Amino acid sequence: MATNSKFIDYIDEALEKSKETALSHLLFTYQGIPYPVTMCTSKTFQALDTFEARSDDIVLASYPKCGSNWILHIISELIFADSKKKFEYPEFPVLECGDPEKYKRMSQFPSPRILTTHLHYDKLPGSIFKNKAKILVIFRNPKDTAVSFFHFHNDVPDIPSYGSWDEFFRQFMKGQVSWGSYFDFAINWNKHLNDENVKLILYEDLKEDLAAGIKQIAEFFGFFPSGEQIQTISAQSTFQAMRAQSQETHGAVGPFLFRKGEVGDWRKLFSETQNQEMDEKFKECLAGTALGTKLKYDLYCQA
Ligand code: A3P
Repeated sequence: MATNSKFIDYIDEALEKSKETALSHLLFTYQGIPYPVTMCTSKTFQALDTFEARSDDIVLASYPKCGSNWILHIISELIFADSKKKFEYPEFPVLECGDPEKYKRMSQFPSPRILTTHLHYDKLPGSIFKNKAKILVIFRNPKDTAVSFFHFHNDVPDIPSYGSWDEFFRQFMKGQVSWGSYFDFAINWNKHLNDENVKLILYEDLKEDLAAGIKQIAEFFGFFPSGEQIQTISAQSTFQAMRAQSQETHGAVGPFLFRKGEVGDWRKLFSETQNQEMDEKFKECLAGTALGTKLKYDLYCQA
C-alpha cells in the first residue's frame, strides 16, 4: 500500500486549522457552494481556472464520503501492477484543496496523475473536458453517505462537531455542509453519465463484488492486470486490509476515514421522519432518472 506523506502532511495542517475553527465558521461560499475554510480558499479556486488537464489524467469525482480513498487506493495499486513503480502522491490528491501554487507544481508531475475531486460537474476546470481526461464518478446511497459524513465530523477529535445527528441531518438536507448538496451533485452528474470518457461506479457494487469492480475500473482507464493481479489488489483493498494500514497510509485521521465500510449503517441513526424526508427528496430529485435507477435506492435505502 502506498505510504502517503503528502496526504498526511496536508491533513495534519488541515486538522491544526480545524482546532481553531468553530462549526459556525467552518464554511465559506464560493460560486454558490459551501466549502470548509480548513481545506479550500478562494485564491486556490481562482488558480484552478489555470489548471491544465491531460488526456491521461485519472479523474475520480465523488461527493464526500462515497469511497474516494478506496478507489484512489485501487488505482494506485493498478498503476503499481502496470509499472512496478510504487505510486507516491506528489501532492494532496484532492484537486481543489491546497495552495494556489499547486497547479504550477502539478504541471511538472509525470503521467498518470490522479486527480480526486468533490467539485460539482459544472465547477470542474474546463481543461478536463477539452483535453478529454477520463472521469470515474463514484456514487454511494445518500443515507449511508450522510451517516459517514456525520461520523467523520463528530468522531475526528479536531474537526468541528455537530450538536447532534438531527442537526447534521438538517444541514445535509439543506446542502449546508462541505461541498454542498448531495442531491445537487447527483442531479448535475445525472445529465452527463453517458458523456464520452465518463464512467459511473457504485460503492455498493464494489462491496458486492470487489474483483469485478476492480476489473471494470482497470478496463476504463486502460490497465490490463492479470487475474492473479486482480486477486492481489482485491485482497489489499478490502475494508479490513485498508483499515489495518490506515494509520500508516493516512496518519492520525486514518482510522476515522476507514470507519466501518458497511452498507446500511444508516439504519442506526435515521428516524422514521428522516427516512420519509430523504425518500421524498430522492423522489423529487432523482426518481425515474438514469442515475436514480443505477443507485438502486429501493434496495439500499428502504426502511
Ligand atoms: P464509513 O464512514 O461508512 O465507514 P471517502 O474516502 O470518500 O471519504 O469515503 C469514506 C467512506 O468509505 C467510509 O465509510 C469508509 O469506511 C469507506 N471505505 C473506505 N475504504 C473502504 C473499503 N476498502 N471498503 C469499504 N468501504 C470503504
